[in-house]
Amino acid sequence: MTQLLVVETSPRGAQSVSRQMTQRFLAAWRTAHPGGHVVHRDLADADGAPPFVTAPWLHAYFTPPANQTQAMRDELRLSDEMVAEVLAAGHIAISTPVYNYNVPASLKAWVDHIVRKGATLGLDGQGLVKGKKATLLMASGGVYTEGSPIRDRDIATQYLRLILGVIGIEDVTVVAGGGAKAVDLQAQTMDGFLAPLQAQIERAAGAGIAHRA
Ligand SMILES: Cc1cc2nc3c(=O)[nH]c(=O)nc-3n(C[C@H](O)[C@H](O)[C@H](O)COP(=O)(O)O)c2cc1C
Repeated sequence: MTQLLVVETSPRGAQSVSRQMTQRFLAAWRTAHPGGHVVHRDLADADGAPPFVTAPWLHAYFTPPANQTQAMRDELRLSDEMVAEVLAAGHIAISTPVYNYNVPASLKAWVDHIVRKGATLGLDGQGLVKGKKATLLMASGGVYTEGSPIRDRDIATQYLRLILGVIGIEDVTVVAGGGAKAVDLQAQTMDGFLAPLQAQIERAAGAGIAHRA
């Protein structure tokens, strides 16, 4: 069955531009993949957010599975769960604000838990997450797309592309919701801001395109 993993990060609920992009993406994805299964990992939700890595976590991670104690396995459980979500998905959608030119700390914490040697990354440094695609739904106050004078500050997109590439995902589509401060400043409505992105969002979701199983 086609499975979509949606990773969301914004703490702003209904006010969040990136979450509104997710809603549109999900609607298009469900239309394009009837019967598809969606797994939601909400990093703004206390139940879904991974903690920053700690010394006990690292100790468990660096201990070969055969030597791990029950306490070590417990330490790695959430990370294992999130790795399994990545491996089970055919398509991963990451929806995020840009904070200080990069991804929010919660998303960086997720990355630290899912880039796992022996699971998503081979011991030889080759990515193990093959044959999948990813979509980045980015909301930023500024505009960083081609032609922008601050294009070189687009660290968040470059970083996520790099991480996805490292684990083996090269088929990455970016939907850049740049200039979202117009919504925050009430100079533009949410719908008015999102309307020009709708076609890109639908294409990224596979709407109207024969999709891979
Ligand atoms: C702490 C913080 C840092 C931010 N840093 C940047 C930034 O470096 N560049 C930018 O373009 N927008 C920045 N913004 C604006 C957000 O990217 C923008 O408000 C976006 O819509 C937030 O996503 P959301 O609406 O999904 O919560 C920042 C916002 C906050 C709260």
